[in-house]
Amino acid sequence: MLSAADRRLAQLLIREHAVPLVELHACRQQLERLAAAGQPCPSLEQLLLERGALTPQALARIKRNLGLLAGTSGGWQTGAGGEPPRRRRKPRTLGGYELLAPIAAGGTGTVFKARDPVTGALVAIKVLSAEAAMQRGAERFLREAQLACQLTHPNLVRGIRVGREDGLYYFVMEFVEGESAGQRLRRRQGFGELEAVAIGRAVCAALECARAHAIVHRDIKPDNILLDRQGQVKLCDLGLARSFGRPTSVTTSGIAVGTPRYISPEQARGDPNVDHRSDIYSLGVTLFHMVIGRPPFDGETGLAILSRHIYEEVPRLRAVRPELSPELEYVVARATRKRPAERYETAGDMARDLAIVASRLAERAGGAPPPAPAALARPAGAAAAPHPPAAARAGGPPAGLPHPSA
Ligand SMILES: Nc1ncnc2c1ncn2[C@@H]1O[C@H](COP(=O)(O)OP(=O)(O)O)[C@@H](O)[C@H]1O
Ligand SMILES: [Mg+2]
Repeated sequence: MLSAADRRLAQLLIREHAVPLVELHACRQQLERLAAAGQPCPSLEQLLLERGALTPQALARIKRNLGLLAGTSGGWQTGAGGEPPRRRRKPRTLGGYELLAPIAAGGTGTVFKARDPVTGALVAIKVLSAEAAMQRGAERFLREAQLACQLTHPNLVRGIRVGREDGLYYFVMEFVEGESAGQRLRRRQGFGELEAVAIGRAVCAALECARAHAIVHRDIKPDNILLDRQGQVKLCDLGLARSFGRPTSVTTSGIAVGTPRYISPEQARGDPNVDHRSDIYSLGVTLFHMVIGRPPFDGETGLAILSRHIYEEVPRLRAVRPELSPELEYVVARATRKRPAERYETAGDMARDLAIVASRLAERAGGAPPPAPAALARPAGAAAAPHPPAAARAGGPPAGLPHPSA
């Protein structure tokens, strides 16, 4: 039986092809034999060095990477961007960027705040963990980076470049100074309706850009919506994104990917052909969480939550909080219909209804309607005529969303 540290080391060694697999296997057998005989066991690294399977230099390099990913390696500066570092040690660098501090350690790896030493510009760098590389390969990580670099939109985190150094894959992105909607929910337990609507419109704009490139995000949730200090909304984490209308690989079909609390019914069932309407569902659930303070479905296990998304109706907003507007209730209900065909056809349609909600809320509050976010402005050259409300195009004004013309 290998210790957790030995297992991590073994994973990294395998990934980097640093040691022949037969050597690792032989070490493992030797350790098991010693343990079974009740004798003291050396560590995996001791054994590998003894056998001459690994040089001390190669081991030192690999351990440095392990420390970096575990967030334990010294070397990054502890001061915030621009401030003088508290320690005068040479900062750890990756891809030529100075790593300042880890921001988050998630499913795919660790995200660091970093700085370009030449321009002083701040960036965020996602480093793929050995575990993630082992489980999913670097493919998903590289695809995320590639998509983010290819999609340019004010509401999508901009990718800068992807690279490999010292056996670590890293992905450099624009740094978003602020916090995620998820972090804010955990801190403050909820968003005002107008604020949630503005965020929803911005995410719709990002999703329209993705749709134009035939890309489904597949993991829309508060943690993947970043809010910067200027109030800009940036969608991140295209790690699960995939092109729709293309055949899906056998390995992923039939297995639900995404985060159970926000997953669409079709994604929960492992349907390999989910399209952009799955993101619309997850955005509806995200809006629910933002204004109610909790997601619609919870459960003991991820599987229990998946099943509720498949079989249970998302509760009406006003059944939980009667003071919320009927217009927002309508939009969330429409976005979270079980059958994709009954949802908004596109995120653009949903954005237009959210704009109506915003005007109604502003009217009721007695103020001027909020301006459309920059990202929602019509692209240059597009028809100037106002779009008919999506709900109207879908067959007459719905009961829940009285349109201005009604
Ligand atoms: N460009 C960025 N700027 C600032 N923080 C970021 C950036 N990208 C990610 N983060 C932070 O790191 C967290 C995890 O990043 P994410 O891309 O969602 O990776 P994961 O696959 O681990 O979910 C985010 O929730 C956010 O808090
Ligand atoms: Mg994420």
